[in-house]
Amino acid sequence: MDSMPSLPIPEALTVPTAEPAIASPVILLISGLFAVVAVFALLCKVYALVTEGHYVCRKDLTGKVIIITGSNTGLGKTTAMALAQCGARIILACRTMTKAEAARDEIIKETGNKDIHCKKLDLASFKSVREFAAEINATEKRLDVLINNAGLLTPAEHMITEDGHEVSIQSNHLGHFLLTNLLLGLLKKSAPSRIVVVGSCGQWFGNMNPEKPLNFSRYHFPLFNYCSTKVLNMLFTVELSWRLKDSGVTVNCGHPGFVQSDFGVGDDSYQAWLFTRLLKLYGKTPEKGAMTSVYLATSDDVTTSGRYFADCNTAIAPFWAINKGKAKKLWEVSERMTGLAFTA
Ligand SMILES: NC(=O)c1ccc[n+]([C@@H]2O[C@H](COP(=O)([O-])OP(=O)(O)OC[C@H]3O[C@@H](n4cnc5c(N)ncnc54)[C@H](OP(=O)(O)O)[C@@H]3O)[C@@H](O)[C@H]2O)c1
Repeated sequence: MDSMPSLPIPEALTVPTAEPAIASPVILLISGLFAVVAVFALLCKVYALVTEGHYVCRKDLTGKVIIITGSNTGLGKTTAMALAQCGARIILACRTMTKAEAARDEIIKETGNKDIHCKKLDLASFKSVREFAAEINATEKRLDVLINNAGLLTPAEHMITEDGHEVSIQSNHLGHFLLTNLLLGLLKKSAPSRIVVVGSCGQWFGNMNPEKPLNFSRYHFPLFNYCSTKVLNMLFTVELSWRLKDSGVTVNCGHPGFVQSDFGVGDDSYQAWLFTRLLKLYGKTPEKGAMTSVYLATSDDVTTSGRYFADCNTAIAPFWAINKGKAKKLWEVSERMTGLAFTA
């Protein structure tokens, strides 16, 4: 059989072969960067979930007195809630009394524990710290746990307190330094008792040399400056533990993890903007974040003093934050800056 003659394909029906698309190197680079950031972000989230500590206090804390600074919101409030649940007498030491009263009412309603009290404390004012401590020493028979929780992100504007110090150095370190010292007598009288310092893993990104004046006027960068105040928290813990040796009072510093709280909210710096977004994305709930403070305040497993914890576990602090020479120097400098004659 003769083969059929092949028909010519009309030109209009031929499909023009497309030029192979070559993506521009810029687009390739940008998508590559996005992919790396996305994978890194995912790994961070997985890491945060895997390392999340867990502790729930089941003790009966009836008769125990606990002071928590900055407890009208965030970690402080949820720490107070967890400890109130166990029956402790809680003193919410706060600067914004309307928020403190709302927190007190909420804690009483949630836990049924009516032994919850608000007292005014502004750590950015030594006068306020002294008045608060005087009232506690005059009215409380004992103090089992002091939780130095309050803290703020260093503001972008260089702000000086009425005592002449940079506001985040005073609120995060000096105010707590003075407060702790003024309450040491009561803590010792109530031994075994504990001091919990709420620090941060941010201490890995900060540093501050107590040999030089404690201020940020020459290198103002809010996030790193805040991290430096957290180095002060750790140095304070180290020196205080040494000074409290054999007193029955222990002190440890804990990082709560990244927590969705009010931290940095309302601060208008671009770093605060970025940080608060990251906390929203990666942060755990304040209930989970408070577990490290509750653990350090109540767990029988915590027998150490002067140590750093993160997520309910012992952790490694940077060597510059546990340097004994620096810690001693910071103590002397803080004594001078707060006008405290150390009598403990
Ligand atoms: N959130 C995190 O991811 C994270 C991570 C590591 C460490 N931390 C630490 O955890 C602690 C609690 O922070 P948070 O996350 O719960 O933040 P938050 O929700 O902003 O709570 C901070 C608390 O500190 C109080 N405060 C600030 N300055 C004060 C002052 N001068 N006197 C008295 N109280 C003052 C605030 O009172 P007002 O309401 O009156 O402002 C508020 O009650 C801080 O020490 C922070 O450094 C937090």
